Amino acid sequence: MRQVFRGTLFHLLDDPDAGADAAVIHEDGALLVEDGHIIEAGTWIDIQPLVKGAPIARFPDGLIVPGFIDCHVHFPQIDMMASPGDNLLHWLSAYAFPTESRFHHEDVAAETARFFLDQLFAHGTTTALVFATAHKVAAEALFAEAFRRNMRLITGKVLMDVNAPAGISDTAETGYMETRHLIRDWHGKGRLGYAVTPRFALTSSERQLELAGRLLAEHPGVKLHTHLSENTSEIEAVRRLFPDCPDYFGVYEKFGLATPHSVFAHCLHLSASEWVRMARSGSNIAFCPTSNLFLGSGLFNLSAAETAGVKVGFGTDVGAGTSLSLLATMNEGYKVCQLQKRHLSPFKLFYLATLGAARTLRLDDKIGNFASGKEADFVVLDAHALPLAKRRWEHATTWAEKLFALAMLGDDRAVARTYVAGQCVHERDKKAAPSEP
Ligand code: GUN
Ligand code: ZN
Repeated sequence: MRQVFRGTLFHLLDDPDAGADAAVIHEDGALLVEDGHIIEAGTWIDIQPLVKGAPIARFPDGLIVPGFIDCHVHFPQIDMMASPGDNLLHWLSAYAFPTESRFHHEDVAAETARFFLDQLFAHGTTTALVFATAHKVAAEALFAEAFRRNMRLITGKVLMDVNAPAGISDTAETGYMETRHLIRDWHGKGRLGYAVTPRFALTSSERQLELAGRLLAEHPGVKLHTHLSENTSEIEAVRRLFPDCPDYFGVYEKFGLATPHSVFAHCLHLSASEWVRMARSGSNIAFCPTSNLFLGSGLFNLSAAETAGVKVGFGTDVGAGTSLSLLATMNEGYKVCQLQKRHLSPFKLFYLATLGAARTLRLDDKIGNFASGKEADFVVLDAHALPLAKRRWEHATTWAEKLFALAMLGDDRAVARTYVAGQCVHERDKKAAPSEP
């Protein structure tokens, strides 16, 4: 079915730091969608002849942007976000691990998966790379719910067989077998993808990391998702546990886990050598500013990643992250870079949450902008429900100013509607059905 969405269009054709033409804004623009894919994006004048009677959804005050992509988030941790921790390792044992231990229960996992995906849509996020827990049922629940919603989502059962409570641990062998079964059942089904997910080097034995490498080798196209170099005590502990490895990244290299399909969250304290080897391996990074500030972990060096040639996309890292909103993440990411004398334009901020994130997940042939043929995942933003942003918009003279104000002041209130494959999955202003007398 053909559909037309009319409003101001904004998307990125490339990294805006690479050239001035990367950012495209059509003030009176339109998106022509058919069977869940983008046929054409352009000005209304260009699109009008192609409409041929298709229904037109009009958003006169709306800004239509590609759906946000979250490169790193933990779905079970939605139940304990905003829990204080002295640092990463304390926070994990005090809050994250106890919360995750409830996810052996199918009903808990299913109800949380529904709530989590409702919230992603309410925040304008249409694709995410997600940590589940070590329980097979938790990954299954999230896959099933994302499949039902026709959402592009990647997740995996967490692998953790040492240094963790029994209730959230597996063994090297059960982790391997359960992952194989999950890949067989879910990878490539609908819009779903699988990520082999060792939590981090501290919670996997050498045998488990070896089997994770085997899983990747046996299943081309499957992702690797883990944490790297977030906290200095964590790095010290990795050094003690893996004395034969040159550094933290070297642990993942040793087991064949550093690949173009690998996404490493954080990467805050990498050495010059680690940056060079990361780039050479084609590995990718999720930059999680709200989490890094919340746990006091450190400042991500975006310029170092770019100089090395490593792809970067934003991650919220909820529950250590303090918001599911990629707009709120832009706000904090901007400040993290300011502290390092790196000034990010509003175009760059949106790039890191859309096309840049799609490149980080190697999904840029499918999502990330409005190029013809891509999947029609998009968000209608406006400032109506944000009095401060609305007022700022009224005083703005350029779209750069408006976009920057949305990034600094926006959150889920700025998301008027969210569409997945051309279907509306969230409507902010929908009136609640009248209750029965
Ligand atoms: N490192 C290992 N596990 C976690 C986690 O759950 N959250 C964060 N932020 N870092 C981790
Ligand atoms: Zn994380």
